[in-house]
Amino acid sequence: MISSKLSVILGLMLPGAWATSYSQIMEYAGQSFFDGWDFYGSFDNLTNGDAIFVSADQAESLKLAYVNDAGNAIMKVDNISTVAFNQKRNTIRINTKDRYDVGSVWITDMLHVPFGCSVWPAWWSQAPKWPDGGEIDTFEGVNQVTMNQMALHTEPGCTQVSPVQSSPLVNSTDCSFEANSNQGCVVTNPTTQSYGEAFAQAGGGMFVTEFASTGISIWFFPRASIPNSLQGNASSVDTSTLGQPVANWPNGGCNINKFFQPQSLIFDITLCGDFAGNAATFSQTCSGSCYPDYVVGKGSTYDNAYFEVQYVRVYGANGKNTTISAAPASISRPSTASVAGIAAAAALLGVASW
Ligand SMILES: *[C@@H]1O[C@H](CO)[C@@H](O)[C@H](O)[C@H]1NC(C)=O
Ligand SMILES: *[C@@H]1O[C@H](CO)[C@@H](O)[C@H](O)[C@H]1NC(C)=O
Ligand SMILES: *[C@@H]1O[C@H](CO)[C@@H](O)[C@H](O)[C@H]1NC(C)=O
Ligand SMILES: *[C@@H]1O[C@H](CO)[C@@H](O)[C@H](O)[C@H]1NC(C)=O
Ligand SMILES: *[C@@H]1O[C@H](CO)[C@@H](O)[C@H](O)[C@H]1NC(C)=O
Repeated sequence: MISSKLSVILGLMLPGAWATSYSQIMEYAGQSFFDGWDFYGSFDNLTNGDAIFVSADQAESLKLAYVNDAGNAIMKVDNISTVAFNQKRNTIRINTKDRYDVGSVWITDMLHVPFGCSVWPAWWSQAPKWPDGGEIDTFEGVNQVTMNQMALHTEPGCTQVSPVQSSPLVNSTDCSFEANSNQGCVVTNPTTQSYGEAFAQAGGGMFVTEFASTGISIWFFPRASIPNSLQGNASSVDTSTLGQPVANWPNGGCNINKFFQPQSLIFDITLCGDFAGNAATFSQTCSGSCYPDYVVGKGSTYDNAYFEVQYVRVYGANGKNTTISAAPASISRPSTASVAGIAAAAALLGVASW
């Protein structure tokens, strides 16, 4: 009896056993926001979007990525050029040069996220070897949906079991890229303030992602609900004080250390492609056809297709260096959608697919 009580107490006292406290180790903000990121510099050969992810030089000269007068990072779809049939539209995809290991938290504070028919934005992360090293999608939406969706994508064997989360909207629990056409284990945020026009009207908000060996959790706070502890420049964050996460994938159903490797953080906006351009998905919130009716022609449909980001901050578990400084050699994300073959063939020919 005594010894089992003792071991419980010792277990609770072991450092790291319940570590929920993290210190700020990196900040992407202000004039230097874009310094720590690589620009993709190729057409979307990952998700078959009708988009060209421009280089850093092009992003600057075309004003698709810049720091605005308020000191916030803007990343946007080209809404000025007229795009001819069979051409793609310029947009942005950036990933952090540094990667962050298990025992990290990343927080972004945004005022505006991209939305509109044909638009598919995401704030997410992945390891260089996909799907081996896992993928964490903190923020993602397509077309005119009204709620943010969150997901993990992994090798087979990782599932969402007994989550402690506030969202009742669970779309799928198998995180394997082989299940459900690589949909991932998806949780939808029930508040419409988590996406689209309602997000911007609420003054934007904050997404917190905890990447811990005990599980992966995501919190979303609309502007008015941001906890005091995270206002201003919080030098540390204690996730045990943030309340229940909106989405949670505990270690019990998914061995985090086995399915996840250090993550590179990514912002991207693509157009149409495997998800937004999927005919059944597209017709849920938009009319017409994704590529010919939106991407082609004038860009005014993209006036709202931009991120405005106040900062991205990364926190490391106290006493642990979770930063992997080496830049990943390459980042790839094979597509699994049924349209992939046709779209890939079209991409090889340099033409748009829809
Ligand atoms: C995508 O294009 C880039 C640049 O040309 C290339 O380095 C990368 O290997 C390509 N990825 C895929 C999955 O085809
Ligand atoms: C997930 O479920 C929500 C709520 O039921 C629904 O609105 C959304 O379309 C679903 N997402 C996907 C990708 O099926
Ligand atoms: C925020 O705090 C971190 C250290 O905790 C510091 O490196 C960074 O410069 C601060 N940023 C601002 C905008 O004050
Ligand atoms: C393009 O979008 C921006 C906001 O992202 C807006 O300020 C601008 O008026 C839009 N149209 C043109 C032609 O620049
Ligand atoms: C963490 O480790 C990386 C090596 O991946 C090193 O470059 C970096 O300086 C270390 N950071 C700290 C704070 O020790």
